[in-house]
Amino acid sequence: MLQFDVVTLFPAMFDAVTEQGVTGRARSRGLYQLVAWNPRDFAGNVHRTVDDRPYGGGPGMVMLVEPLRRSLNAACQRQCGQGVAKPRVLHLSPQGRVLDHRLVLELSREQGLVLLAGRYEGVDERLFGHQVLDHAVEEISIGDYVLSGGELAAMVLMDAVVRQLPGALGDAGSAAQDSFVDGLLDHPHFTRPETYEGMVVPPELMSGNHAVITRWRLKQALGRTWQRRPDLLERRKLSVEEQQLLDEYRRELEGVR
Ligand code: ADE
Repeated sequence: MLQFDVVTLFPAMFDAVTEQGVTGRARSRGLYQLVAWNPRDFAGNVHRTVDDRPYGGGPGMVMLVEPLRRSLNAACQRQCGQGVAKPRVLHLSPQGRVLDHRLVLELSREQGLVLLAGRYEGVDERLFGHQVLDHAVEEISIGDYVLSGGELAAMVLMDAVVRQLPGALGDAGSAAQDSFVDGLLDHPHFTRPETYEGMVVPPELMSGNHAVITRWRLKQALGRTWQRRPDLLERRKLSVEEQQLLDEYRRELEGVR
């Protein structure tokens, strides 16, 4: 079972992941466990202070190093108690390495992840200083924009990782068929009715011929990626068949214009 520990001032936010949908079911099936640690419970004074004004001035507050250090070390110790050999500690922050499908897959194969969701303007940098924490910290961003705190980013990461755990998705093939698995965007999807406002379902999908359907889907995935995310195609060498399908897609597009 994958062990998640999260250090957060807002543990209740994580109910959205643990109680709902695919990630809620995965938790009830025992595919992962999540324990939240609130730095307030590790604060050194009666006011349970966890932040203070930044040295050098400026807006907002900075999270104190000591309550975070204690929370993170408690989280790591719990993981070790659960048999996690080396918990991977991830600090969610816009300064981090950007999360992508490859990293999600890598994380889904770990035994334990400790997530640090900071609030306010940031955390005291000395938290990451030499030997302050029992384990090294990696910074992870979910994109080039700023959230009010790391909680939503941690939940995004958890959702993406949990859906990769064997048994998380009802249909076993589902995660393998997602966008990005193949370095491509997803193909379009259709369901009933067959005709809607004069628009029909592509005949290939109605053909009942598995090879025709697979070929159509790959062609659409290639075409959409070429149109919307050419950067993804630059990173991926196309096979001869894929190049032919993409050329076909482009010719068909020209025909429509
Ligand atoms: N915290 C605030 N913004 C973030 C982002 N873009 N990614 C990860 N953590 C964050």
